Amino acid sequence: MTLEQEGGYSVTLAANGAEGLRLFERDRPDCVLLDVRMPGMDGFEVCARLRAMPGGADVPVLFLTALRDVETFDRAEAVGGSDFLTKPVHPAELVLRVQQALRVRRLDAEFQAQCELLRRQRNELFRLQLQKEDLAAFLVHDLKNPVNAIDLEAQVILRDRQLTERSRGAAEQIRARSRDLLRLILNLLDTARGEQGQLSPSLTTVALPALVAGILGARAENARELDVRLHAMIDVPVVSADAELLRRVLENLVDNALRHAPHGSSVRVAALSLGDEVEIQVSDEGAGVPPDMREAIFVRYVQLDDGTMRVGRGLGLTFCKLAVEAHGGRIWADEAQPGAVFRLSLPQPR
Ligand SMILES: Nc1ncnc2c1ncn2[C@@H]1O[C@H](COP(=O)(O)OP(=O)(O)OP(=O)(O)O)[C@@H](O)[C@H]1O
Ligand SMILES: [Mg+2]
Repeated sequence: MTLEQEGGYSVTLAANGAEGLRLFERDRPDCVLLDVRMPGMDGFEVCARLRAMPGGADVPVLFLTALRDVETFDRAEAVGGSDFLTKPVHPAELVLRVQQALRVRRLDAEFQAQCELLRRQRNELFRLQLQKEDLAAFLVHDLKNPVNAIDLEAQVILRDRQLTERSRGAAEQIRARSRDLLRLILNLLDTARGEQGQLSPSLTTVALPALVAGILGARAENARELDVRLHAMIDVPVVSADAELLRRVLENLVDNALRHAPHGSSVRVAALSLGDEVEIQVSDEGAGVPPDMREAIFVRYVQLDDGTMRVGRGLGLTFCKLAVEAHGGRIWADEAQPGAVFRLSLPQPR
């Protein structure tokens, strides 16, 4: 539909690879879009066969795939794919890539050679990017277990009754810092997933008061040290949400609030039911978020305060937004007078 309505092209659809090859012979299209995973013949095989057909050697073939990894990319290259788009595909980008592919075909030989060179260079960069993504995903995954283990060991130490005050403080610090680290790791993992459209919440009935009490309880020690009071006002017994994702969203918001809360102030978590949605608020009495920055802070790596002295990469709110939107909800920053309040609304089934 995008190609017809926005691109003005006429499109022929094929239900599988074999039909695609038949239709190619019949219609001789100017450009071919191919899925990778298909029943029967996969996209790679279709492309390889197409390249051997009359008129198939130089027709642009664009791969559209949900598989964003180096191996898929290399195979697409090897069978003679011209371009490679990963899903979810932006409609405007799709039209643009098709236009480009068609335009290159009309250029003379010299320009075509230059385009080919550029294409190679772009592909090399893209391949490196994919490799980096793979590596980051592995790293993040492999860091999770040792960090959890560190936290567990600190808990073991804390069970010792003879612990000196100083050692107890140190063990608490280990716990708090490993929690920060784990939050960062999980945010990294899930923002990557969310941006590829792979963050799918599994909805259950979540007991909200207990969830919030757990989150605040784990931060009680930290809050005491910061001289910040934690309050929960949860007027909603249960919400329909992915328990794990919701917990991490609230942890990110509470950790942000704690970081911005002045000594002697309060951090509040409140929830209320508004017809067919539940609104959860996390507020603090700190400096707040300037109105012109209230959207920008949800963008990857954006940090207003100096993040150099702590674990934190400006991913927390990006994760929150992706996770809340994956639930079909919304999240936004507001003024708490004084301070910041982050509100999120989650649609609730009747
Ligand atoms: N409660 C708040 N009050 C004032 N500013 C805030 C608050 N919460 C977030 N911000 C601003 O928004 C920025 C982005 O927040 P985000 O949670 O995405 O990243 P971060 O907390 O800096 O790092 P990370 O969450 O990755 O550890 C923060 O750096 C901060 O400048
Ligand atoms: Mg944060």
